[in-house]
Amino acid sequence: MRFASSVSILALVAPALVSAVPLRLTRRAASAADTLVLQFADVLEQLETQFYTQALAKFQESDFTTAGFSAAQVPIQQFSTIVTDEKTHATTLEKSLSDLGASPISNCKFDFSSALTDVKTMAATARVVENVGVAAYLGAAHLVDDGTLLTAAASILTVEARHQSILNVLSGSGTAIPNAFDLALSPSEVLAIAGPFISGCDVGVSANPPLTITNTGAVTTGTSLTFKSDAIPSDTSKLSCQMLTGDMSFSVTLPFSQCTVPSGINGPVAIYITNDTQPLLANVVERATVNVVAGPQMAFIDTDPQMLGSLATSGSSSSSSSSSGSSGSASSSSGSSSTAAAAASATSGTSTTTISPADASSLMSSASAQATATGAAAAAAAAPTGNAGAAAAAASQASAVSAAAAQSTVAAAVVQDSTPGGRNSYTGPSPDGHMTVNGFAS
Ligand SMILES: *[C@@H]1O[C@H](CO)[C@@H](O)[C@H](O)[C@H]1NC(C)=O
Repeated sequence: MRFASSVSILALVAPALVSAVPLRLTRRAASAADTLVLQFADVLEQLETQFYTQALAKFQESDFTTAGFSAAQVPIQQFSTIVTDEKTHATTLEKSLSDLGASPISNCKFDFSSALTDVKTMAATARVVENVGVAAYLGAAHLVDDGTLLTAAASILTVEARHQSILNVLSGSGTAIPNAFDLALSPSEVLAIAGPFISGCDVGVSANPPLTITNTGAVTTGTSLTFKSDAIPSDTSKLSCQMLTGDMSFSVTLPFSQCTVPSGINGPVAIYITNDTQPLLANVVERATVNVVAGPQMAFIDTDPQMLGSLATSGSSSSSSSSSGSSGSASSSSGSSSTAAAAASATSGTSTTTISPADASSLMSSASAQATATGAAAAAAAAPTGNAGAAAAAASQASAVSAAAAQSTVAAAVVQDSTPGGRNSYTGPSPDGHMTVNGFAS
């Protein structure tokens, strides 16, 4: 267990690095909001630290090779760097809390048994965890009162974003940098995803009801998503599914029973169930929450596999070959998987029924298969229907950023960037007629 011992050596070094991080404040007590945000961030960093520590302790080099990595040391080196960062983040946040006269939350227990069944499920879950980490820091930014704390938190956020890119690459099927903007999630939304891993502590924030994606096949453009949640009523006729990516100004809204992945989505997607048909705003500060019945759940819908990913995973795993047969059919079965998210919620502590780890790994296998198919073919084969949000709002991010120029363009036209492999950006007028670019309204 060479990597396990290097991790513990790094743990000894980490405290020395802490003093270099400009997060300590001694000048005054933190506001209640700042304390809450720091404690919440620390719990997430503890979760990440535990996750990677357990993963690196459990899996051998051969497990990484079996999972399809070209060379086991490639992912192990990255995971080892990541766990060191997470540990340092947690230590630093805890020191800050003490300096501010507050206490870190130290009694949380983390159960990752469902996510550590094999390396594929672990890596897929890591991808969700990092993306949720990025979304959590972004979504809490507006809650922070102290500018120094905000800046320090931002310096953590940028590193979490690097982890996210590395894990996109290591997934084999992902786009390293899938969107021009990242999703922001509120603390309650973060807990809908991360909460099932956590027990035994009160983080001071209520969790949205968890949502599970129950698809057992590949998920790509054109796939109809199916869901499970204790919070979903038996009559689903009034429910909508809402898909939100970082590049959208508001969610794509579809009937619950016809939740078909539209074209133009690539990378992480937050999926919600609401009890109305209003799109959810990307703007986390103003996003309505009252109609959210369950979720979000974080899914990765990889429609643009990149060469970098296939370099990391060119060794094909035994299970991925079994699903490659269906990948040539250019149907909804030819896509990549989204369901690390499902694995992420498949833990104890809640009564939520989830996709099994076996299903999750078979989905990850099909994600590897997708790396050899073309995302464009899959997208072309399965055009979405009834995509109200996208139809109302697709336009180029560039024109939307210069809001004045874009206002008329967007209002009048539906312009979708359908360049194969290109970025698709959904921007445009929000339901109230205002221009919204990833949370910045004009
Ligand atoms: C559903 O809809 C009504 C308003 O139409 C709202 O008051 C209620 O709280 C909603 N939310 C949930 C989660 O059911």
